[in-house]
Amino acid sequence: MQTVHVNAGQPYDVYIGSGIITSLGERLAAETKAKKATIVSDDRVWSLYGTKVQNILGEAGFLAECCLFAHGEESKNLTTYGQILEKMSGFGMTREDVVVALGGGVVGDIAGFAAATYQRGIPFVQVPTTLLAAVDSSVGGKTAVDLPSGKNQVGCFYQPVFVLCDTDLLATLPIEEYRNGSAEIIKYAMLDGLELFEKIEKTAICSQYEDIISRCVQIKSRFVENDEFDRGQRMLLNFGHTIGHAVEACSDFAIPHGTGVAIGMAAITRAAVHFGYCENTICERLHALIQTYGLPVEVPYETEDLFEAAAKDKKNTANTMRFIVPKGIGDCEVMEVSGSVFMEWLRAAVAEE
Ligand code: NAD
Ligand code: GLY
Repeated sequence: MQTVHVNAGQPYDVYIGSGIITSLGERLAAETKAKKATIVSDDRVWSLYGTKVQNILGEAGFLAECCLFAHGEESKNLTTYGQILEKMSGFGMTREDVVVALGGGVVGDIAGFAAATYQRGIPFVQVPTTLLAAVDSSVGGKTAVDLPSGKNQVGCFYQPVFVLCDTDLLATLPIEEYRNGSAEIIKYAMLDGLELFEKIEKTAICSQYEDIISRCVQIKSRFVENDEFDRGQRMLLNFGHTIGHAVEACSDFAIPHGTGVAIGMAAITRAAVHFGYCENTICERLHALIQTYGLPVEVPYETEDLFEAAAKDKKNTANTMRFIVPKGIGDCEVMEVSGSVFMEWLRAAVAEE
């Protein structure tokens, strides 16, 4: 098992290893004063691991109830959020009790937001079960639900008490979810440098989960520690996300987040070569790595549609579009440009090779 410490305003540890789910009850007992635990999960994850987790908590002396919703982004809304709060209230959860988020990023985001706001904030722990949640959404304290007008429109920063990532739970992931998580890992490699990049070029991520997840969590924790509330350096974590989010939105969210990010990274790097920020060899190497993990590098939408979708993103303002430009492996920078300049970048980004 590896432990990564996240020195956020509210510091915590991320435990990563094979088989460690059995220690969840002991850790909860050691790190909280809770007597009751509400396990928030989706139907798919619950059917695989719910009873096991409920038993582990029961054996450690907790009264544990579940609160389930249908899997998928469509559930990440105010209605589900309200249902979770009602369930917690009905279960008699107090401010000392704990929410256990058992699932992917959807579960983690909504359970975290419910924990952050129930009785003005009660403890919660993240038990990520997707690769994406393990390397990204379970760490860093962003919680949210979607509005019809857009993703993550309501939420807050609220750090978990700890994150427990049992890599054995990833064995049941569908290939598409493995790919989505791999895209975020490629993003970390582009931000961090050659060592991680070469490690995932040479050996499949799934053969080295513990090492790769730990490395990614270390990288993310560095950004979170320096800029917990996402005002500066943390924005680099959005490499590939400006075009990626636009691609997701254009597809009406049929294209999942990780796939959108892969397309976004490939596209913005293509444009960075066009504008002289990055060497073509880097772009070719990144595209090859993305494709190794079964992810696409071509943008399936027109420039105008992407522009319209990107302009609605909450990270952009009325006059400024913001995106991350890769200059090399381990060398990326935030760029802010006017709408017309962004349009030029988009044209270069979508150009067929
Ligand atoms: P998800 O939570 O919808 O999970 C994807 C699918 O995998 C679901 O159908 C789920 O039931 C299934 N699943 C989960 N674990 C499984 C397992 N072990 N075996 C089999 N199936 C399993 O999606 P996700 O990709 O994990 O997360 C995406 C969400 O995360 C989005 O809402 C996004 O906005 C959010 N996100 C948040 C942050 C953050 O910092 N808070 C960062 C990135 C993404
Ligand atoms: N997923 C980006 C962040 O946590 O900032």
